[in-house]
Amino acid sequence: MQIIKTPAELNAVSKKLRSEGKTIGLVPTMGYLHEGHKSLIRKSAEQNDVTIVSVFVNPTQFGPGEDLETYPRDLERDKQAAASAGAEYIFQPEPEDMYPDGYGTFVSVDSDITKILCGKTRPGHFRGVATVVTKLFNISMADRAYFGQKDAQQLAVIMRMVSDLNMNIEIVPCPIVREKDGLAMSSRNTYLSAEERGQALSLSAALKDAEKAVKGGETDLEKIKRNIRARISGSPLADIEYIESCAFPSLEPYGGKLVEKTLIALAVRFGKTRLIDNIIVEPENREVRA
Ligand code: PAF
Repeated sequence: MQIIKTPAELNAVSKKLRSEGKTIGLVPTMGYLHEGHKSLIRKSAEQNDVTIVSVFVNPTQFGPGEDLETYPRDLERDKQAAASAGAEYIFQPEPEDMYPDGYGTFVSVDSDITKILCGKTRPGHFRGVATVVTKLFNISMADRAYFGQKDAQQLAVIMRMVSDLNMNIEIVPCPIVREKDGLAMSSRNTYLSAEERGQALSLSAALKDAEKAVKGGETDLEKIKRNIRARISGSPLADIEYIESCAFPSLEPYGGKLVEKTLIALAVRFGKTRLIDNIIVEPENREVRA
């Protein structure tokens, strides 16, 4: 496992790899790697000659009062996790290498896709994500990049950006990885107290119930969302930010009747911890939306 610290160094390595005809997979992360990240790394290792994992807690995607300072960091653990899942390189730059003095260029996906769901309460978040991801794509010269479906809106924003800007990279979406008890894996789960973690299981349980209802023929999205809300509200520590349904990946808001592939996404706070989770459902019997 080689640790690369600067954009110039990574760019030189990537140029050499490409000149040797090797394909490059990039797994962008903020570190503190868990099984979800490892599933992305494994997928990349399967599909590419070389896998680069970036580990960078990107300051431009955090808002005032968010957890930039406290975000968990452990490079030694990340090295082992990345190597065991099949990565060859970790790119771990310092903020001043990514955003040197005088830095002034940002990538902003300005359609409604960044204004709904998490975009409502985290203004500027997706601008920071789009900017750093663009930089990582350019520096690594990757053929493919791997993103988890847990951050469904992030995935949709990146797909939009890659399409809008004709970026020469394939985006590979990867399924959500869950703990045995259903909690979607996230580096932020470490913030939860035992009581909060116990109650946070209501998120995946509510989404699982929704999936079951759809499989059983339920198509009333408002009822499905009401049931999710009721299930989560049964956890006294849960503070629901949103439970919404929209098309995926366009994120066009969908309500009423379930007639096509729909993302049901939610964000819920437990104390200081903000958790997100989602499912993508399709009606059992497909109709054409009027
Ligand atoms: O999903 C994340 O960990 C981050 O938003 C990403 C994509 C690595 C950009 O900083």
